[in-house]
Parts: sequence; structure tokens; C-alpha cells
Amino acid sequence: MSNTDTPRSHPQGVQPAHIAIVMDGNGRWAQKRWLPRVAGHKQGVDALRRVVKACIERAVPVLSVFAFSSENWNRPVEEVSGLMDLLVMALSREVPSLRENGVRLHFPGDRSGLSARVVQGLEAAERDTAHNRVLVLNVCFNYGGRWDVTQAARRLVQQGREITEENLSSAMALAHVGDPDLLIRTGGELRISNFLLWQSAYTELVFTECLWPDFDAAELDRAMAEFARRERRFGQTAEQRAEIEVQVVAAGQQHA
Ligand code: IPE
Ligand code: IPE
Ligand code: MG
Repeated sequence: MSNTDTPRSHPQGVQPAHIAIVMDGNGRWAQKRWLPRVAGHKQGVDALRRVVKACIERAVPVLSVFAFSSENWNRPVEEVSGLMDLLVMALSREVPSLRENGVRLHFPGDRSGLSARVVQGLEAAERDTAHNRVLVLNVCFNYGGRWDVTQAARRLVQQGREITEENLSSAMALAHVGDPDLLIRTGGELRISNFLLWQSAYTELVFTECLWPDFDAAELDRAMAEFARRERRFGQTAEQRAEIEVQVVAAGQQHA
């Protein structure tokens, strides 16, 4: 792969090219320690820094994380404003080193609901890292899977384009990357909570009890090992998939 390509797919098995994470459990992490919930969100930023580093070390080219959902506005006002402040603070603190380490930032989500201060921060971070190619980091903020499908459909209608799967995919907020291969949810809940509804049609799901602030490279390795054990069939039979594997190996040997 050249340094300028954004990877869109990967050969079957072994290593995911796109990992998505529902970073859940910050509040419980804090409450267990008699700390305010926002202290858990702060620790969550540290966990994200660790996981970005681990993805770079493991040559995972795309990481998408759920940082604030369309529904998180329903939380207490102090928590919502704490999360907005934390985002602005984390951007000013983290972007210089992300930029140096080749991370390209995107913030998929509905900007219309965000304050000018937050939008300016997101735009500046996207601009400052636009040349980077080592890791694409999508920080989904004020994102919802239903919002995404709706905005994509609205865009096609405005452009007078036909509603097809291909056109919708190209209008979605994560059209710049392929669909996630692996989706991890920390914090023990067994649900998607309106994350990448369209994009996770064939994503392998891994749930862990680990609270997000405790998540680290070893936890990532466990999830990736679980992914490597899965058989992805995409609607086909196990025999058909085995035949495809044989062809891929044979093609690889020819090119070697
Ligand atoms: C996830 O952690 C972070 C956000 C939703 C912003 P939570 O805050 O949901 O943590 P729990 O689920 O209450 O422990
Ligand atoms: C999902 O977590 C959203 C994020 C991690 C940003 P929530 O804690 O909001 O999900 P629910 O409310 O338990 O479904
Ligand atoms: Mg939660």
C-alpha cells in the first residue's frame, strides 16, 4: 500500500483494517472511586491515547471511536458541558503529538448542534492533520447511526441522485474509510447504542466488561485475537469461504 492511499478493505482473516470502539464505562469507573463522572471521561482520554499508539504499533490503519452520541444530550447539563470542555482541552493538548505521529483526524457527526468554539476546534484539528497517512482516527462526536443514514439520504435527494446502496454509502459520514471489520464495546453492555448502524452490517462484534478508562494494548490484543478466530462468511457457506481462502493463498504465492 502506498503512503497516500486510505485503505478500504483487507484480505480475509487475521488483522482488522478498521476497528471501531464504543468507549463505554467512564461514569462507572469514576463512581467506583467516588469521583465525579467527568473524572472518568478524563481518564477515557488517556485510554484513547494508549489505544491510538497501540493501533499504530500494530499497523491498524483506521480507528473509529464513539465519543458523544446524538442521545448523550439527554444527560445532566453539567456532564454535557464537562464533555464539551474536555473535547476542546483534549484537542489543544493532543493534536500536536497526533500530528507528529502521522494521525489524520476526522470528526464524523452533526456539527449543527455544536457551539462555534467546539466546531472551530474540530475544523482546526482536521486541517492540521489532513496531510497525515499513518492512522485515520475518526472521533464520532454528536454522531448517531440514524442521523447518518438520514443526512446521507437528504444529501442524495438534494443532489437529485438516486437512492441506491452505493450512493448512500458514498454520502455517509465515514465514506472516506471502509466499513469496520471489528467493533469493540467496553463497559459490558450488549448493544450498539446508535453507533455505525449502516456500516456495521458485517462487522464482527466483541464485547468486554472492561471499563473504557482501564482499556489498554493487552485488551486490544485480546479483541484482535478474538477477531482472528472468527469466520466471516458474508452470507456465503463455509465451503465457499474456504475455496476463496485457497484462491487468495494461491494468488499470494504467485505474486511472491
Ligand atoms: C461513555 O461512558 C462515554 C460517553 C457516553 C460520553 P459513560 O459515561 O456512558 O459511562 P457509564 O456507562 O455511565 O459507566
Ligand atoms: C454510547 O454509550 C455512546 C458513547 C460511548 C459515546 P452510552 O452510555 O451513551 O450508551 P447507553 O445509553 O448505555 O445505550
Ligand atoms: Mg454508558
